[in-house]
Amino acid sequence: MESLKKLIVLTGAGMSAESGIATFRGAGGLWEGHRVEEVASPSAFLANPGLVLDFYNHRRKNVLDSEPNRGHVILKELEDNFNVTIITQNVDDLHERAGSSHIIHLHGELFKARSTADPSLIFKIDGTDLNLGDKCPKGSQLRPHIVWFGEGVPLMEDAIMEVESAEVIIVVGTSMQVYPAASLVEFAKPGVPIYLVDPNPPKVSIKNLQIISKGASEGLALVASSISPW
Ligand code: APR
Repeated sequence: MESLKKLIVLTGAGMSAESGIATFRGAGGLWEGHRVEEVASPSAFLANPGLVLDFYNHRRKNVLDSEPNRGHVILKELEDNFNVTIITQNVDDLHERAGSSHIIHLHGELFKARSTADPSLIFKIDGTDLNLGDKCPKGSQLRPHIVWFGEGVPLMEDAIMEVESAEVIIVVGTSMQVYPAASLVEFAKPGVPIYLVDPNPPKVSIKNLQIISKGASEGLALVASSISPW
């Protein structure tokens, strides 16, 4: 059997919007009066760890109360005809819950915690809460397994290699304002078709770009029916 065409999907917060999870830079873009940058940074965690843990506890609850939307399911279904890898900026687990097989969480995972003493110690969080006093076996406070503003993106190299080998690329629901994630499309081979699904698409100058100004579910249904597996 011939191998399936390699499809890379880059997803951002807009992917989960129809599941009821707010985007970052949408109307207001604030969490209880804080800009995301003020709660999602190492300095915020140092200054006020309780507030930062609380921010993520709320986000975990929101995700647990949400379901994958039709767009997530379409991406899972595309595995029937394509070799699909999803590179997501989202920290939710909705791609996993829709059944997608290959997912790179560029910005970390909401349902994991990590030791502040030893970053190789990563634990699953059951339920919603990670609190002050929750410690790793080495005795240090656990922190969310999230890439915060100002921190490196450990999976960036893996993501670049995936994009370099892509034969088709779909970008869904990202404002493409946060680097290095926003630079990933630049690693596509010349001529590779790139579809951008977003009801309010960012202004980008990318070659071979087809813009679909729709929400994730509707837009991905259109793309899925138009891309050829051959
Ligand atoms: N379907 C598809 N896209 C949508 C939808 C929808 N139903 N609703 C909104 N969008 C689009 C918006 O038009 C916008 O372009 O989703 C995009 C969301 O952009 P951001 O809120 O900036 O989210 P994202 O690009 O994922 O943010 C990147 O910033 O705070 C950090 O680390 C965080 O991973 C995040 C990163």
